[in-house]
Amino acid sequence: MSAPQESAADAAIDLPNDPLTTERLGELVGARLQPGDTVALSGTLGAGKTTFVRGLARGLDVDDPDAVSSPTYLLVIEHDGEVPLLHADAYLPAKLEGFLDDGGLEYLFDPAKVVVVEWAELVRNHLPDKVLWIELSVPPELGRRVSMRTQSKGDFPWLADFRTIWAQR
Ligand SMILES: Nc1ncnc2c1ncn2[C@@H]1O[C@H](COP(=O)(O)OP(=O)(O)O)[C@@H](O)[C@H]1O
Ligand SMILES: [Mg+2]
Repeated sequence: MSAPQESAADAAIDLPNDPLTTERLGELVGARLQPGDTVALSGTLGAGKTTFVRGLARGLDVDDPDAVSSPTYLLVIEHDGEVPLLHADAYLPAKLEGFLDDGGLEYLFDPAKVVVVEWAELVRNHLPDKVLWIELSVPPELGRRVSMRTQSKGDFPWLADFRTIWAQR
C-alpha cells in the first residue's frame, strides 16, 4: 500500500450557473501563476475548461485573452504576453503524445511560460511533477464544481487560502 499523500493540497469551489464566474475563477488563478507553472485541466466536454482558460489568460495578462479558443485540432496555441501562455489540448492524446515525443516536451514545458493542458488526464504520464490539477464538473443543480489539487503543498502555496480569496473577491 502506498503512503497517503499527507502533503497534498486541495480546494473545491462551487460556481453558480453563469459562465462569467468560471472566467472570473480562471482570472484569479491566472493572476497567481508564475513562469514555468503547469495547469492540468480535466472534465467532460462542455464542463467549462476553455472558458476557464480565457479567464486564466486575462489574469496572466496576455495581450489578447479574448482570443482564447479550443485548441483541439491545433494541439497548442501560444498567446503572447509578458508571461506567454501555451494552451494545449490532449483530447486526441496520441497526437499530443507524438508531438511531445518529437521535441514538443521541451517547447511546452518552457520555464519562461505558463502551460495549460485541457484533457490533461489523458497525457498524465507526460506532465511534470509540479502540476496544478483542476477538474471541472457539472453537478445536477447545474453551475460548475471546480476541484483544485496539487501533489505537495509547497507547489502552489496560495492554494491553501484560495477559497477565502474567492469568497472575498
Ligand atoms: N459556471 C457556468 N455555468 C453555466 N455554464 C457555464 C459555466 N462555465 C462555463 N459554462 C458554459 O459551458 C459551455 C462549455 O464551456 P467550454 O469552456 O467550451 O467547455 P470545455 O472546454 O470543457 O468543453 C459554454 O457554453 C460555457 O459558456
Ligand atoms: Mg475546451
